[in-house]
Formats: sequence, structure tokens, C-alpha cells
Amino acid sequence: MPLELQEFNAETDFPAIARCLFESYEDPPQKFFHVFFPTHGTGEKAREDAIEEAATRLKLWHTHDPSSHWQKVVDTDTGKIAGGALWNIHNENPFANPATVPVTWFPDDGSRRFVEKALQNHSAPRSRAAQRPHVYLFIIFTHPDYRRRGVGQQFMDWGMKKADELGYDFFLDSTPYGRPLYEANGFVYVEENINIPKTDNPDEKWKDVEEKVGPFTFWLMWRPVGGKYEEGKTIKPWEQN
Ligand SMILES: CC(C)(COP(=O)(O)OP(=O)(O)OC[C@H]1O[C@@H](n2cnc3c(N)ncnc32)[C@H](O)[C@@H]1OP(=O)(O)O)[C@@H](O)C(=O)NCCC(=O)NCCS
Repeated sequence: MPLELQEFNAETDFPAIARCLFESYEDPPQKFFHVFFPTHGTGEKAREDAIEEAATRLKLWHTHDPSSHWQKVVDTDTGKIAGGALWNIHNENPFANPATVPVTWFPDDGSRRFVEKALQNHSAPRSRAAQRPHVYLFIIFTHPDYRRRGVGQQFMDWGMKKADELGYDFFLDSTPYGRPLYEANGFVYVEENINIPKTDNPDEKWKDVEEKVGPFTFWLMWRPVGGKYEEGKTIKPWEQN
């Protein structure tokens, strides 16, 4: 079963990559996923609608964001997508004039306010540490049928090489499931980010999504240019004056 890293076809690949994304984050389920890719309602139809919406939105984001770079790993025996990765190659400080992403994937009520706040909280540690050009791994997933066969590592190898070629730091926000992969690649913890959106006046829609998602934790992780980190010696760029 050869698993090959391939460039992405933005015209044709989004429906299959969105399905693989859902199947990857459903096993095991991760509650925060609802913030980025919600299923509104229950049952198979609602899930199919959610995958279709995700495919459309991912394509739109990709088309409008020059920093966006998608990749896939394909099982060349079957043609099935085994995993995907979405990179942002930031050639400039993205936090100098941060683009606000309209949260179109939630209705314009308290649920959208919750998600807007959750997204702000999510990027807060990186907005402090990564005020310079950098490589950011936004999304990575391997389908459950293909785990522990080096799919994630193929993406990481590509990203580390790219960051070194460009002379950029490499940042990512890690789920608990991603940590072993990043630790195996020498990434350093920067900050724990326990995401609990707050408002003074939560309405029922806010409370519904809050209950569904709960507090969720990511860890901002960093790899310096060249990948060689020595505690107490390597300078963390965001700690420099
Ligand atoms: C995280 C994820 C992408 C890893 O993908 P993968 O293709 O299974 O990872 P690889 O096979 O390339 O693993 C490379 C190395 O990382 C480490 N590693 C990866 N998954 C591991 C696990 N579950 N337990 C322990 N070590 C692990 C190992 O050192 C592994 O090398 P080895 O198999 O030779 O021991 C996958 O588990 C996944 O999609 N999880 C759900 C979605 C998610 O949370 N994504 C992370 C977002 S930050």
C-alpha cells in the first residue's frame, strides 16, 4: 500500500479531502471540531450537508488566501486520500493587519458570537509569538485506516524542509492527538491555550454551542529555523526586545 505525498488539485480534491477530514476528526471524536466544522442538526443528511459545506468553504478560503497551501497523501493502490494538510506560508507578519474571517458557518446569533470569540482565543498565543514571517500548519489529519504508517510524518518532513529553505520559524497549534508526532520531531512547547469563550450576556444559542464544545485545549508549539533547540541557549524570537 504505497502512500505518496502529492500536490493538491484545488479544482477536484476538496470534496474528498473534506470527507477525509471529517472521518479523521470523528475517530476519536474531538469536540472543538464543531467550532470549525459544525454539523447543524443530527442524522446522516446533516452530516453530509456539513461535509459539503466544509468542502465549499475550504475551497473558498484556499482561493482567497495566497498563503494557503494544501497537500494530500494518496494510497496509490486505490486512489483513496489517506490524509491531508493545510499550510499557511506567511511571507509577512500575518498579525500586522489581521484579516477577520467572517464566521459564515454559524447562523448570525449567539452561536456565531461564541465561535468568533473561540477563534480569537485560538490564535492569541501565536499572535504574540509569531509576529514575523513563518510557516503555520493549520490542519493535519490522517484517516483512521492509515494511522501510524508515516502519513503525518510525510507532511511534517515537507513542512520542516520548506521552513528551513525559507529561513522561517514553524508554528502549529497541537491537539492532544497531534502531540506525539510533534514531540517526535523536536517541537518545543510555547504556551498552553485553554479556550473558554466568555461573554457578559450569553443567549440560548451561545449556551447551546458552549455546552456542545466545552472548554478545549491546544498547545502552541514551535520549531526554530534549522530545528536545533537547546533549552537555555536557543533564543526564542518573541522574547527578544
Ligand atoms: C496526529 C495524526 C495526524 C498523526 O498521523 P499519523 O499519520 O498516524 O502519524 P505518523 O504515522 O506519521 O507518525 C509519525 C511518528 O509520530 C509519533 N506518533 C504519531 N502518532 C502517535 C500516537 N498515536 N502515539 C504515539 N506516537 C505517535 C510516532 O513517533 C510516529 O512514529 P512511529 O510510528 O515510527 O513510532 C493522526 O493521529 C490524526 O489525524 N489524528 C486526528 C486529528 C488530529 O488531532 N490532528 C492533529 C491536529 S494538531
